Amino acid sequence: MRTALISIAIVLIAAVSHGQSFAPMVLDSVDFSQGTTVMEALKVRASATSFDTCQITPQQLSALLWSANGINRPESGKRTAASAVNAQDIDLYVATKVGIWRYNPQKHQLDTVAAGDYRTFIADRQVWVLDAPVFLILVADISKFTFGTDSSRLVLSSMDAGIVAQNISLYCAAAGLETRIRAGMNDEKLREVLALTPTQYPLLNTPVGYRKKQ
Ligand SMILES: Cc1cc2nc3c(=O)[nH]c(=O)nc-3n(C[C@H](O)[C@H](O)[C@H](O)COP(=O)(O)O)c2cc1C
Repeated sequence: MRTALISIAIVLIAAVSHGQSFAPMVLDSVDFSQGTTVMEALKVRASATSFDTCQITPQQLSALLWSANGINRPESGKRTAASAVNAQDIDLYVATKVGIWRYNPQKHQLDTVAAGDYRTFIADRQVWVLDAPVFLILVADISKFTFGTDSSRLVLSSMDAGIVAQNISLYCAAAGLETRIRAGMNDEKLREVLALTPTQYPLLNTPVGYRKKQ
């Protein structure tokens, strides 16, 4: 009995350490010494055409999220991605086969949103991207703008999402990871799963992983 309990505990610890458990996740501190130069990253950046199923490391996940839209100036709370009038209107959701989390940049942690595998809603018709172990979903909240019409707010949010997406692309290129910026996804289903308000829009998603080995 005791041996069985120890075995279960070991399996649970192993699952948690591989990010397979659905719970809030405190992210590793960011290792600023990793990655190539910006010029090297720009030289190799390309949209992924295949993904391997192998996991990215907790350190890579941490650096990916911080690079995408983390806080780089704690004194002002400003971010790695510029945003129109500093609206900070783009939220990042992280989806894996065990669930969906929301990135909390102030605490550099992941808060739980929904348990379960919803990646088919993100892949939609491009099923080949389901091999990627991690997906980021870029959700705009246009209520962060205090001026303009809904359509002018959505234009600004779309540009802000593009900047976050480019940060993701460059981090991946610098870290030897693959990604593809995608607008395609099942917005309606994702709205339900993420419990989005009418002012929140899923604009882009980025599967992230390694290139499939030949
Ligand atoms: C805003 C935006 C939306 C995109 N949506 C999709 C998509 O839904 N599916 C897809 O396979 N690629 C998508 N792409 C990737 C483009 O097809 C890709 O960037 C383009 O073919 C150029 O290739 P490259 O990124 O390797 O230079 C999107 C790219 C951008 C910038």
